[in-house]
Amino acid sequence: MIEAARDLFPGGVNSPVRAYRAVGQDPPALARGRGGHVWDAEGREYVDWVGAFGPLVAGHAHPEVVAAVERALAAGGPFGVTTEAEVRLARLVRERMPSIERLRFCTSGTEAAMSAVRLARAATGRRLLVKFEGAYHGHADALMTGPDLMAVPYNDLEAVAALPLDEAAAVIVEPVAGNVGVVPPAPDFLPGLRRLCDRHGCLLVFDEVITGFRVAPGGAQERYGVRPDLTVLGKIVGGGLPVGAYGGRAELMDLVAPAGPVYQAGTLAGHPAVMAAGEATLRLLDEAAYRRLEQLGSALEEGLRAVGRVERVGSMLTVFLEDEAAFAAFHRRLRERGVLIPPSQWECWFVSLAHTEEDVQRTLEAAAG
Ligand SMILES: Cc1ncc(COP(=O)(O)O)c(C=O)c1O
Repeated sequence: MIEAARDLFPGGVNSPVRAYRAVGQDPPALARGRGGHVWDAEGREYVDWVGAFGPLVAGHAHPEVVAAVERALAAGGPFGVTTEAEVRLARLVRERMPSIERLRFCTSGTEAAMSAVRLARAATGRRLLVKFEGAYHGHADALMTGPDLMAVPYNDLEAVAALPLDEAAAVIVEPVAGNVGVVPPAPDFLPGLRRLCDRHGCLLVFDEVITGFRVAPGGAQERYGVRPDLTVLGKIVGGGLPVGAYGGRAELMDLVAPAGPVYQAGTLAGHPAVMAAGEATLRLLDEAAYRRLEQLGSALEEGLRAVGRVERVGSMLTVFLEDEAAFAAFHRRLRERGVLIPPSQWECWFVSLAHTEEDVQRTLEAAAG
């Protein structure tokens, strides 16, 4: 299968990290998943901490998510018009994230980030975009290069303050850095960005593609008490199906077509099956669910400290080892013992509601020397 894929897709994959280059292995041929576990084509079982890189907070094939998607698919569509399913999911998003008065669903986090940046530029009439080194906003990054982009170190407020913010359309930030491994925000970092943006009339854009509905019911903006102007969403809000969304204050969002001049459209935007998966997933995420994620995350963190430095915010965590070679060896050892972790030190492990104490135990035993 891998040979066929190498012939068909560049590097054998449809998204680069799947090639497992950072750990120097062939990726497993996964065929099935249930709860916190996955199985390869030969029927070998693994505890799965990759979680599809974030969306599967309910685990694989959660019965309520599967049932909701089946019902939606059986009902036909997409219909090329607005549906009840979009309205229901949008209301849930808005209840949890009051900074989002109005939003637009699209089909990937990349598209959402790209659209939010275009909107920020249209709203301010400025071009400059400020981002943080190592941040990932999807391959929208490829469009965010050149003289219109300045990148400074994450958690470095002074470096942001030294930029020509009067010319900036937006500061875009992952409120918890998740694409350089987990890096929590320093205590005054996010409030400081809010103050700087207010002072200089630029927009604060939170890319909550990973953190949205994961680190708190209302995402990082709730957890850290900072209200962004625009929020970028993806992953969990689609319950494991292809999704993106961006939203914010009504007057900003009303610059988006057809309410306003910033044209952005999508044939499959708001697909009923995606909306159903997102709604079913968000409905599982009550207060008890976040307590459970915290509890499992904390048990995993404590045990993994024997292996390396661990950074964690709720159910996203990273184990930092001394170098790439040490990480590759660690990854291989876990894999041989039936535990799959992300194929790069710079990706987060994701705990789901379907994981168990036994999964944590099995992982810690596999991780021990
Ligand atoms: C913070 C962040 N923003 C945007 C994206 C892009 O989302 P997508 O892969 O759905 O295009 C990702 C993907 O991992 C991400 O981590």
